[in-house]
Amino acid sequence: MSTLVEIRKLTTPQELFDAAAEVVIRCAQDATEKRKRFTIALSGGSTPKGLFNLLANNAKNVLPWDQTYFFWGDERHVPPTDSESNFRMADETMLSKIPVAAANVFRIKAENLILLGMGPDVHTASLFPGTDALKEKSRLVVANWVEKFKTHRITFTLPVLNAARNVAFLVSGTDKADALKEILESDAPGEKYPAKLVKPADGKLLWLVDRAAASKLKEE
Ligand code: 6PG
Repeated sequence: MSTLVEIRKLTTPQELFDAAAEVVIRCAQDATEKRKRFTIALSGGSTPKGLFNLLANNAKNVLPWDQTYFFWGDERHVPPTDSESNFRMADETMLSKIPVAAANVFRIKAENLILLGMGPDVHTASLFPGTDALKEKSRLVVANWVEKFKTHRITFTLPVLNAARNVAFLVSGTDKADALKEILESDAPGEKYPAKLVKPADGKLLWLVDRAAASKLKEE
């Protein structure tokens, strides 16, 4: 079993969202052809908003929404109506605009393709550096105490992330350039840089990065 890693550098955030939308559509078509269902875990934060808007506005009649099941890689410890809620963000930018049944949406109350973001501190989902959830070997979802926010975050654990067929990181902006260089070009330990621990055991790991985020990577 091995992880297939691909790094795609896009020029602008819009090109990054276009490329990510192609990945979602390809994974959806492949999954529904083979297994009659497509499961996708959404990331939170701000980066995926452009992708969700694009899917809702441009792929509304392309994706098999009736065979698509939505999950979240992590959620903040807030109600779904809160401005901090990852569910609310996805609902406002996409779910409320597409013909998907409520039964297909599995909000974290507080597998095919997993979308992830990455923080400048190299956290992903809510797997923050030095936190307990990084050591989790069996539970799929845990409440992870994040000292810097003085709160718990509900997050997928590495056993789930590394069991996916496809994981796609969307990384945009200069504030992520140092973190991306650490991930892709240093041999620093994963505990310090959690996104480094995401390696789908028998799947594909795709990095979609824009020019700003890739600005500190070695020239090819
Ligand atoms: C969250 C996310 C988190 C996010 C990164 C990047 O709940 O915040 O799931 O892991 O992906 O913090 O966030 P931005 O896209 O806003 O930079």
